Amino acid sequence: MPRSYPPTIHFTGLNTPIGVEWSARNLDVIGEIPAEIEGAFFRAVPDPAHPPKYDDDIALSADGMVAKFTISGGKVDYAIRYVETERYMLEREARHALFGRYRNPFTDDPAVAGKDRTVANTTPVWHAGRLFMTKEDGLGYEVDPDTLETIGRWDYFGALRSRTFTAHPRIDPETGEMFFFGYEADGLCSTKIAYAIADAQGNLVSEQWFDQPYCSTIHDFAITQNYAIFPIFPTTADLDRLKQGGAHWAHQQELESWVGIMPRYGKVEEMRWFKGGPGISAFHIVNAFEDGGRLHLDLCLSDTNAFGFMREAGGVMRDQREIGGGLTRWTFDLSKDADSYEERVVGPPGDMPRLRDADQGRPYRAAWYLSMNPQGGPPLPGGPVGVAFNALIRIEPGNGRIEMMGLEPGMAINEPVHVESTRPDHEGWLLMVVDRRVDENRFESELWVVDAANLNAGPVARVPMPLPMRAQVHGTWVPAAKLEQARSRQQDKAA
Ligand SMILES: [Fe+2]
Repeated sequence: MPRSYPPTIHFTGLNTPIGVEWSARNLDVIGEIPAEIEGAFFRAVPDPAHPPKYDDDIALSADGMVAKFTISGGKVDYAIRYVETERYMLEREARHALFGRYRNPFTDDPAVAGKDRTVANTTPVWHAGRLFMTKEDGLGYEVDPDTLETIGRWDYFGALRSRTFTAHPRIDPETGEMFFFGYEADGLCSTKIAYAIADAQGNLVSEQWFDQPYCSTIHDFAITQNYAIFPIFPTTADLDRLKQGGAHWAHQQELESWVGIMPRYGKVEEMRWFKGGPGISAFHIVNAFEDGGRLHLDLCLSDTNAFGFMREAGGVMRDQREIGGGLTRWTFDLSKDADSYEERVVGPPGDMPRLRDADQGRPYRAAWYLSMNPQGGPPLPGGPVGVAFNALIRIEPGNGRIEMMGLEPGMAINEPVHVESTRPDHEGWLLMVVDRRVDENRFESELWVVDAANLNAGPVARVPMPLPMRAQVHGTWVPAAKLEQARSRQQDKAA
């Protein structure tokens, strides 16, 4: 029976399903792309291949597409393909949706019982010469960085015991190690967390498990040079609710939050738990770093969960515009026994933070994140929470200095990637997709190149896209030299 897409925020506006795999070479460039930008901007774009089984389905359930801007010699190519997860392939064969509600296998067609439900739609991750498409409810899928063909599920040659892999691993810029975790590591609604390290060559060298205080959604974590930090916010899962066909996540406004901190090469038994206020939530951490005996954690904090469907499942009825919060610094004094920490707001509300790769886990000067432009008019419908950002902020959290690139009314912005400059006195470049409403339900998109230290100047180059683009979640930049290294390693292996 043919079904159309439901007319909700998850399937309209910039979330209107497109589902077209396409590629184009030599896109028009307005302005000039700096010659030092050589590499690939990979993007994770959720886009449902089929209308959902249930009308209350959400954008986060959409099949992952992996997109790639290839930039070389000032020229730009583009390609986008579906990640061929087990779920995508089963539904492609059936020609309709078989999997049910967001992260609830009890709502699936019995024919797919026990099959991999992940849609690999959240973050492209590059480590040790491999590209993975990740979502936190399953393992990552390895994708060929040249062709975007799916290679298969990634479990470190069978070594990883965790059934899940975060969409936010952290890579140490000096050691090349990747620190990561998986929650619900041994199954639905479990409190088990796997904390693991892969070395610079991509081998799994450590995996330890511990319990979190309750089964919460741990979307992101942080590392410093000596510590791993796990914030736990009170959005919880419940197996009985799932069995009744209900929501995976429900936000509990009265429940306390926690932060677990352990030596990053230590044992999970060394974890120290710090207690935080009730009801708060953060999906993304900007950075963390050490400062003598103290540890600072900078995060995009809000006073409730930013996702309407998670709030409502917990009985929290609050409009998206009434969510409070801001870029916040938590400071932990590790030399004392106390289980509390200091808090101060350092910047306006926003999310989707971006850091220079080299600043990961270290004291840093500047970061960038998305926010709302007070002069930008009503936000466009789109993106994971249904309300798109329309400003880019550069902040120096140490002194509070802020610069903003606010978009005009009717525009939206997706998370940028940062490209390092070869000039030591230059802060590099930001690449991002910007959307503009041209008609009630028609949008045009452009790739923008912006000087990371001079947002006010606006884009130095723009690349109009010939076809519409669905809202992106996260992206990653891979310099041409790393792509080439990976290619020659593959060729050596083949020879
Ligand atoms: Fe994320």
